[in-house]
Amino acid sequence: MYTVTPMSEKLAGKRILVVGGARGIGAEIARQAEQAGAEVVVAARAGREVRVDVTDESTIARAADSLGGFDHVISTASAHHDVPVPELEHDRIQAAFAAKVVGPLLLAKHFATRMPAGGSFLFFSGIVGWRPKAGTVVKGTANAALAALVTHLAVELAPLRVNAIAPGITDSGAWDRLPDERRRALYDRASAASLAGRVGTLEDVTDTALWLLGAGWVTGETIHVDGGSRHR
Ligand SMILES: NC(=O)c1ccc[n+]([C@@H]2O[C@H](COP(=O)([O-])OP(=O)(O)OC[C@H]3O[C@@H](n4cnc5c(N)ncnc54)[C@H](OP(=O)(O)O)[C@@H]3O)[C@@H](O)[C@H]2O)c1
Repeated sequence: MYTVTPMSEKLAGKRILVVGGARGIGAEIARQAEQAGAEVVVAARAGREVRVDVTDESTIARAADSLGGFDHVISTASAHHDVPVPELEHDRIQAAFAAKVVGPLLLAKHFATRMPAGGSFLFFSGIVGWRPKAGTVVKGTANAALAALVTHLAVELAPLRVNAIAPGITDSGAWDRLPDERRRALYDRASAASLAGRVGTLEDVTDTALWLLGAGWVTGETIHVDGGSRHR
C-alpha cells in the first residue's frame, strides 16, 4: 500500500532556480512553485535577483558559484529567428541555438555537480520541432535538438533527471507583442489545429512543470503539452 504524496509536499523546502522566470511561463512556474513551499530564485538577463544570460557562460558560472546547489534548475530561454531560408542570418541562427541548446548544456555543466540526489533539470522545447512549417526551420530544429539533448543528458547525469516540456501555442503573454488581430488569428488557427479546440494556458503548462519536478521515475522525456496538436 502507498499513499499519493500531494504536489505541495513534494516541492516544499526544495530550492528551485528558474532561468527566464521574470515573465511568461517561467514567471508562472516560479509563482506556483513558491506557493507550493519551494524556495525559488528567479534569474533573468536583466535580473533583479540574479543575472543569468544562458548565452554568456560567465553569468552561469557566477550564479552557480554564488548561489550554491539547487534541487531543480529550469530554463525557458529562447530566441526566435522565423524567416524563410534565403533570409537566414548566421548570428541569429546561432543565438537561437545558444538559447535552447547550448544554454541548457552549460546549465548542466555548472549546476549538475552541485545537485543533491533527486535533483532535476527542466527545459523548454516546443511543438514546431514536430510540425515542420516554412519559415520556422531554425526554431523547429532547435526545439527538436533540445528533445535529443535531454535524452543524452539524462543518461550522462543519472540519477539526476533531465526532462523537457514541448508546449503548443500557449497564451503566456509572449504573443501579446503581436497586434490584436494577428494574435487572434494565430490563436484561432492553433485552436482549430488542436484536438482540445483551444490554445494552452499558463495553468496547463505550469501544472505539467510542477508535476515533472516531482516525478521521480520520469527522465529523458519530452512531455508534449499541446492539446493534441501533433496528432491532427
Ligand atoms: N508560448 C508559446 O506559445 C510557446 C510555444 C512553444 C514553445 N514555447 C517555449 O516555452 C518557453 C517559454 O515560453 P514563454 O511563452 O514564456 O516565452 P517568453 O515570454 O518569451 O519567455 C521567454 C523567457 O526566456 C528568457 N530568455 C530569453 N533569452 C534568454 C537568455 N539568453 N538567457 C536567459 N533568459 C533568456 C526571457 O527573459 P528576458 O526577460 O531576459 O527576455 C523570458 O523570461 C520558451 O522556450 C518557448 O520557446 C512557448
